[in-house]
Amino acid sequence: MSQDAIAPHGGTLIHRIANPAQRQEFLDQAHLLPRLVLDERAVSDLELIAIGGFSPLIGFMGQADYQRVVKDMHLANGLPWSIPVTLSVRQEEAAPLQLGQLVRLDNAQGKFLGVLELTEKYTYDKTEEAGCVYLTEDEKHPGVNVVYRQGDVNLAGPIWLLERHPHPQFGQYCIDPVDSRALFREKGWQTIVGFQTRNPIHRAHEYIQKCALETVDGLFLHPLVGATKADDIPADVRMRCYEIMLNHYFPQDRVILAINPAAMRYAGPREAIFHALLRKNYGCTHFIVGRDHAGVGDYYGTYDAQHIFDRFQPGELGITPMKFEHAFYCTRTQSMATSKTSPSGPSERIHLSGTKVREMLRRGELPPPEFSRPEVAAELARAMEQPALSN
Ligand code: ADX
Repeated sequence: MSQDAIAPHGGTLIHRIANPAQRQEFLDQAHLLPRLVLDERAVSDLELIAIGGFSPLIGFMGQADYQRVVKDMHLANGLPWSIPVTLSVRQEEAAPLQLGQLVRLDNAQGKFLGVLELTEKYTYDKTEEAGCVYLTEDEKHPGVNVVYRQGDVNLAGPIWLLERHPHPQFGQYCIDPVDSRALFREKGWQTIVGFQTRNPIHRAHEYIQKCALETVDGLFLHPLVGATKADDIPADVRMRCYEIMLNHYFPQDRVILAINPAAMRYAGPREAIFHALLRKNYGCTHFIVGRDHAGVGDYYGTYDAQHIFDRFQPGELGITPMKFEHAFYCTRTQSMATSKTSPSGPSERIHLSGTKVREMLRRGELPPPEFSRPEVAAELARAMEQPALSN
């Protein structure tokens, strides 16, 4: 078997899925263990730790890692890491738990998902986390809001996922890092560019994906399907748009579509680093960072998520960012472009924000073909007819 194009972050792909004997042991003890109910984000984090998406993390972060990540974007061992991965619970949930104890982790439906080997409990400064990681202390920021509402105590320690199930909705696209790495090897791809997204695919996305693909062997389309803010378009709709795009507009042998189970933090620049490291673990050598990556509202400058990559030493991250300027449809050259490639003025540029598009769809209007491929626009319009999306 040929070698992977890139090593996982920290050198080893973490695997924390219980083997059958361990699983049986955990199941036998299940009724005796203290139990915690995880929110949607913690469920995503548990899954990503277990499948190696967050390598080198083997569990929820202890205080030394947490503090160094918040303050200077590195783990305690010196590896770059930009977003805390914590299990934050309320004081009264934390108090009865003993260090050294196994804690049972359930989802909101009471399903036994995994265990935590509790090694640490610590309090933390939410305002400091907000200011350092999200660059704002504003509670209206959706990521900061989650931090302010979550518990005051972080529980830390290695985890085990009881069992790996394919995603209930997106089974065939549930491609774990070990699988994507195998696929890339099979295809003989030496250079692979990863693409993060939480929005329905539009033509600027397609343009930067294809510009990137022109210079590498393969494109790993990796839409995020974990928790997003309420007004983002749901993952199933976005995945249908991707299927449509792959059927009509992409060569089948150069693209792999897979789900990213992560929850969105909306941390802009810090999250761009986090997103890149995640894709490195999936085996990508390159990662697309466009305009206002993982941003929300006006909290971040258009290219802050690109500049932050310069704060790391060459080679420290391992994965190479591919930075793209704001792309738009240019009516003068009748093609997609950026200000690097088009002489047009503002009135000759067609670009729409996600909010604008949602407003148009709610009014029953389709986004223009310069913004969205017609098949995708039609799919979005169909989805908007569902009551959950139309208000
Ligand atoms: S994100 O929160 O996942 O970043 P989105 O799905 O909109 O949101 O963006 C996915 C990627 O495409 C990000 O790297 C983003 O910077 C980039 N991007 C989105 N729209 C544009 C655009 N018009 N021009 C350039 N890059 C863009």
